[in-house]
Amino acid sequence: MNETIKYYIETWGCQMNEEDSEKLSGMLIPAGYKKTLDKGSADIIIFNTCCVRENAEQKVDGNIGALKTMKKENPKLVIAVIGCMMQQDGMAKHIITKFPFVDIIIGTHNAYKFPEYLKRIQSGESSIVEIWDKEENIIEGIPIERENTLKGFVTIMYGCNNFCTYCIVPYVRGRERSRNPEDIINEITAMVGQGYKEITLLGQNVNSYGKGLTPEINFAQLLRKINKIENLERLRFMTSHPKDLSNEVIEVIAESDKICEHVHLPVQSGSSNLLNKMNRHYDREQYLELVKNIRNTIPNVGITTDIIVGFPGETEEDFAETLSLMEEVKFNLAFTYLYSKRKGTPADEMLDQVPEDVKHERFNRLVEVVNRNCAEKNKACVGKIVEVLVEGYSKKDESKLTGRTRNGKVVNFEGNGNVAGDLVSVLITDSHSFSLFGEEI
Ligand code: SAH
Ligand code: SF4
Ligand code: F3S
Repeated sequence: MNETIKYYIETWGCQMNEEDSEKLSGMLIPAGYKKTLDKGSADIIIFNTCCVRENAEQKVDGNIGALKTMKKENPKLVIAVIGCMMQQDGMAKHIITKFPFVDIIIGTHNAYKFPEYLKRIQSGESSIVEIWDKEENIIEGIPIERENTLKGFVTIMYGCNNFCTYCIVPYVRGRERSRNPEDIINEITAMVGQGYKEITLLGQNVNSYGKGLTPEINFAQLLRKINKIENLERLRFMTSHPKDLSNEVIEVIAESDKICEHVHLPVQSGSSNLLNKMNRHYDREQYLELVKNIRNTIPNVGITTDIIVGFPGETEEDFAETLSLMEEVKFNLAFTYLYSKRKGTPADEMLDQVPEDVKHERFNRLVEVVNRNCAEKNKACVGKIVEVLVEGYSKKDESKLTGRTRNGKVVNFEGNGNVAGDLVSVLITDSHSFSLFGEEI
């Protein structure tokens, strides 16, 4: 009898890539393959790549290069490089020229065909490089083997139409396509049946969900439908683009018991001038107005954001506006990024690129403000009682349980014998910059 063939998969980037990797597992495991976490003992090594920023890319070349000796020692080893980075113009050619020992190179649009390509390689084909330049209609029904059994991601729309001038995503993930509401609801209902407690709906811009579907449906209506699914405890979603977050959605969040009071609302910059150059379709005032509206309508809401530092043309005044917006809004959390040039995007061609040292110096100042604000926000939670979904034991201290509040804060706490999947009330007794501490009551 043949020994089981083991595959190892490493995934970079966002939940879109995570989902694609989980779908590969969903197809490979029922076909008799076994997943391994040990690269050294794998028969198949898959790298699922990201290209949103340069540092994500640099990792890939190093990782592929390191496989050269393994492949020499074991010529039967199958090496596959897939995902967003392969979808970039010229990248597949670069990889196969620099690393001719790679067996399979495919992009995001044909990832679901991986098992077919694998079979062809196993039957003797020397290498397959196949990148489709256009997205197909959504293909439903691909099985998925999720890593987490408590909290699950469900994609409601693929691609992006926004073309923010710094961003590569629309080029590598194609145009926006929304899934039918029935497919989404069936998937979530099945997951809840398997024991999932929390679902996060995913899309690059979930607030524009529904375009092109018949009968007509918008994101608020989808949320209302999902909120009715029995035994689902918590519902989250991301990402919300400020230009499309409607009053109706804000009201649905406030009204619906399952929808958590958390909005991830990337602002990118506090300067209206830069927001315009980024093609974001809102200005500073509109963003601040939106935050006010969200906070007035949804009690206890947690607002988080993404910021880019050093976009072309960013002056000290522009950056000061980002800092002042941070102070004004006081986000629960902010993900901060150094602007990274992406080939093929309009910002890459802009002549007024910000020097690296200036970017880094501003970045450090921003991080200081973000950390201070997060610490302040967390300190204000001390003495309060919050609802936490228990996720398991804390990695840092295994005598404590860990989980998140409805508005997204991490809480490590002394439990009373509850286990992963339980919803508990916790009294917050202490705080750090990025987490809370407490006791179950
Ligand atoms: N669709 C989502 C997320 C896109 S990628 C949105 O619009 O918010 C996640 C984050 O990466 C973005 O919000 C942005 O802050 C950052 N990002 C994207 N392209 C970047 C680039 N070229 N350089 C630096 N950060 C970038
Ligand atoms: Fe990129 Fe903008 Fe689309 Fe987000 S909305 S994925 S930042 S183009
Ligand atoms: Fe995500 Fe990176 Fe692709 S952020 S969509 S995996 S380019």
